[in-house]
Amino acid sequence: MNKAFRWTLFLVVGIVVGFMASLLFINNDKQVATTEPSPQTETVTSTEPAEPAPNLAEHTDNILVQKGCIACHAVSPIGVKGNGTAPDLAIAYDDVKNRFGKSLEEFLAEPEGTMSAVFETSPLTDEEKEKVISIVKEYSEQ
Ligand code: HEC
Repeated sequence: MNKAFRWTLFLVVGIVVGFMASLLFINNDKQVATTEPSPQTETVTSTEPAEPAPNLAEHTDNILVQKGCIACHAVSPIGVKGNGTAPDLAIAYDDVKNRFGKSLEEFLAEPEGTMSAVFETSPLTDEEKEKVISIVKEYSEQ
């Protein structure tokens, strides 16, 4: 009787331990499954916007970030490199005068070259122009 009881106990403990061990393995599998894709998605999202990514979160109030100017333009004061096709907006306040013979205010009202096409498809409101002028002017004074 005592022997049978011990065997039963042994079996029950064995089943319980075996069951718990299998749960552990199932959990491990799940952890592997959930942790594996996440670094991948992180690297995908961090490689796409390239270098500006870490800075942008601190500059969501910047009009040049909000309006997507940084898709093309470098904005060196906030560490944005742009896509290499458009000049650094940090120097635009004076550069526009040199290159187009007009002030930034005039350039935004009557854009030239690529920017006339850009502003045609996505125009800026007067308020947005004011913000662009004030931040670009601020950069020129730094
Ligand atoms: C699709 C790409 C693209 C986007 C988006 C873009 N730009 Fe430009 N921008 C250019 C290019 C290219 C030039 C150079 C134009 C040229 O030389 O004709 C330029 C020139 C300029 C200039 C003159 C700069 C200088 O130094 O002469 C200003 C100012 C300017 N952009 C402002 C803006 C603002 C503000 C925004 C966002 C509202 C913006 N751009 C968005 C491509 C872009």
